[in-house]
Amino acid sequence: MPGAPDFPTHHPSTRSIGPLVGDDLVVPCVDGVERRYVNLDAAASTGALPEVARRVEAFVPWYSSVHRGAGYKSRVATDAYEDARAATLRFAGRGAPTTGGSDIAIIVRNTTEAINHLAYRLGLRPDDVVVTTVVEHHANLLPWARMCRRRYVECGPDGTFTPAAVAEVLDHGPRPRLLAVTAASNVTGWRPDLDAIIAAAHSRDVPVLVDGAQLAAHGPLPAGADYVVWSGHKMYAPFGAGVLIGPRATFAEGDPFLAGGGAVDLVDLDEVVWTEPPEREEAGSPNVIGAVALHAAIDELDRIGWAAIAAHDDALAGRLHAALRAIEGVRLLGPPPSIGTLPLATFTVAGMPHALVAARLSAEYAIGVRHGCFCAHPYLMRLLDLSETEIEAYRDAVRRGDRRDIPGAVRASAGLYTTDADVDRLVAAVAELAGGAPAPVRYTQDANSGDYWPDTDQHGWSRGDRTMGASCSRG
Ligand code: ALA
Repeated sequence: MPGAPDFPTHHPSTRSIGPLVGDDLVVPCVDGVERRYVNLDAAASTGALPEVARRVEAFVPWYSSVHRGAGYKSRVATDAYEDARAATLRFAGRGAPTTGGSDIAIIVRNTTEAINHLAYRLGLRPDDVVVTTVVEHHANLLPWARMCRRRYVECGPDGTFTPAAVAEVLDHGPRPRLLAVTAASNVTGWRPDLDAIIAAAHSRDVPVLVDGAQLAAHGPLPAGADYVVWSGHKMYAPFGAGVLIGPRATFAEGDPFLAGGGAVDLVDLDEVVWTEPPEREEAGSPNVIGAVALHAAIDELDRIGWAAIAAHDDALAGRLHAALRAIEGVRLLGPPPSIGTLPLATFTVAGMPHALVAARLSAEYAIGVRHGCFCAHPYLMRLLDLSETEIEAYRDAVRRGDRRDIPGAVRASAGLYTTDADVDRLVAAVAELAGGAPAPVRYTQDANSGDYWPDTDQHGWSRGDRTMGASCSRG
């Protein structure tokens, strides 16, 4: 974060502070050896904390309809759902509506749905403006693009921007209806100075949406933001629930995003009386299992504590960056980590396509990473410093169904469960690849997906095991 002290060069030994269900899984490699799977893809999706799995399992016998059943089990399920809703408000630093807080929490599927939901409910007109940034992932770009005009905060070559740059874009034209900004980049782990950005927007009467998808598992969500969204599947609660929090007034009038049962008080064939929010915003049977999981994950993060999580993250981020930076041929994207940077590193390996690096890490070393553009194409184009002509050529190729040369990078991202040993395994593997270690098998690339696949009959990697497009082709 701006103003943060330089990152410490000594990184104390890091152990898991939150083992996950499945941490000890072994997977087959192309040499026929089974190795413990090292999951360095936490920024995409996290596994479940054991307590999350335990509470889901304990709830399953009580599973029943929420807000639409008179039976005892429906009462239990409805209580569990509403308790989870209250927990999400607390987690985002809001007072519960019952204690006078004016914000509501809407349980949705994930961050993408939450932002689409808000974009609809703000009643934007085509001439309205939303200010957002080129650092965002697609969930915080595309919903605005189809509703209204946008002004963008640009980033520098290191992938960062200042609060002053945000203020300049806010002032550069008609007053925007909203500033939509990420709390942390899913590509570089960089965290904008949210307090200063929110203050700049509020001093101009511009409300702020903070995309908390990446931050939620790593630090407190900003209580000063008007709207906050995040996903359970990136905070150890992978059961299909996410959250949209905002002022009740935004949702008090007008049609909800989804129309259907549960959102209404009275319906006739040409008439509808919508019910009060938040239920008005939650048509259809709610995902109570997802809500129970979210609640359990929030309780676990509370128990572990942000201080311990921050120390763990800082140590991992430092180790990851320092070790990868020391490998010849490896180029890290984004600014060097400072205190608070998310524990992830995005990098390229000279002379080796990102898709092949990721395929070899998986097939030869049992290490799971993500590669490509990480659902943040505009940001990657800038970080990779691609010209308009190059981008146009890639676009043409994709339109022809050829994804072989899609630009991108490799991302290793860590979580509560990650240890020094996990980072060291990745670093050793990348050093071998960057050093020109020959592949034990031939890899062929599929033109349509861009993925590489080893040519082998080994268990787990034969032609019949191939899962096309599981890797990166869609962004
Ligand atoms: N935003 C998610 C990621 O970074 C999908 O992988």
